[in-house]
Amino acid sequence: MKIRGRDFLTMKEYSSREIWQILETSKKLKREASAGRLRPLLKNKSLGMLFQKPSTRTRVSFEVAMRQLGGSALYLSWNELQLGRGETVADTARVLARYVDGIMARVFAHSDLEELAKNADVPVINGLSDLCHPVQTLADLLTIWEKKGELKGLKLAYVGDGNNVCNSLLLGCAKMGVNISVACPERYNPDERFIRWAEEESKLSQAEVEITGDPEQAVRSADIIYTDVVVSMGQEAERAEREKVFLPKYRVTEDLMKEASKDAIFMHDLPAHRGEEVTNEVIDGSQSVVWDQAENRLHTTKGLLSLLI
Ligand code: CP
Ligand code: NVA
Repeated sequence: MKIRGRDFLTMKEYSSREIWQILETSKKLKREASAGRLRPLLKNKSLGMLFQKPSTRTRVSFEVAMRQLGGSALYLSWNELQLGRGETVADTARVLARYVDGIMARVFAHSDLEELAKNADVPVINGLSDLCHPVQTLADLLTIWEKKGELKGLKLAYVGDGNNVCNSLLLGCAKMGVNISVACPERYNPDERFIRWAEEESKLSQAEVEITGDPEQAVRSADIIYTDVVVSMGQEAERAEREKVFLPKYRVTEDLMKEASKDAIFMHDLPAHRGEEVTNEVIDGSQSVVWDQAENRLHTTKGLLSLLI
């Protein structure tokens, strides 16, 4: 299957070969850019970027990616479009598709992305939904590949909320043969469908998929320790309850890092809430690769856009 023209909503429909193709293209574009070479692969192309929630990395990396590829990007705030006054998602999709060559959207309800994709005959990319964050996983995989020289057979431990970032990591790791152990409080487990999909993928890739309540078990002999915020965008009313459940046990500290492999790396999609899911010592420590990981959002976005649009 070719990649051009397709949507990128959950990554489920992409084979491990296709994900390798995106990662290899990203790595090549990164190498070229660092040698001062930018190729106008998307000359005169436009990307509409629709946001229902705040963003730093996604907004800036997509905009810079389009610019470096010779195209342009438009920031569209959901509530400032006629969407905010009741125009339907479907009608908005039909109209935007007449102007732009691709749409990236960050939404609360994943179904809004599906509705956009159904009605826009240009590729629709998930820039984060409450369900998953697949463009983040692309950057995570490139970072792991660069730091460890391989993917297959490594072990990633995710400690924290089984949220959108965790769902996509679970699927991405299982597809690419990275063993993944997720430690979260039971009521905050990853989405059932993503667990099932990861288990199906793991039969092909031989990756081990484990969901546990025990962070120490998860990080044992792990090569990568990953966490994300306790309170995601839209969950602010649950803060007190979540702090009570997560902060005593489901956070990455220097003590927890000691349980992992000696050369383990620490990753976080960012933004971090320092002192909550991760301590300053860990995120600022020698094992942390979070800034390289954030940089890779730009390179993998270029890889993805250059293949999709
Ligand atoms: N990691 C990530 O998606 O960051 P932003 O919310 O800043 O886009
Ligand atoms: N889980 C976080 C990720 C932010 C990039 C959120 O949804 O707010």
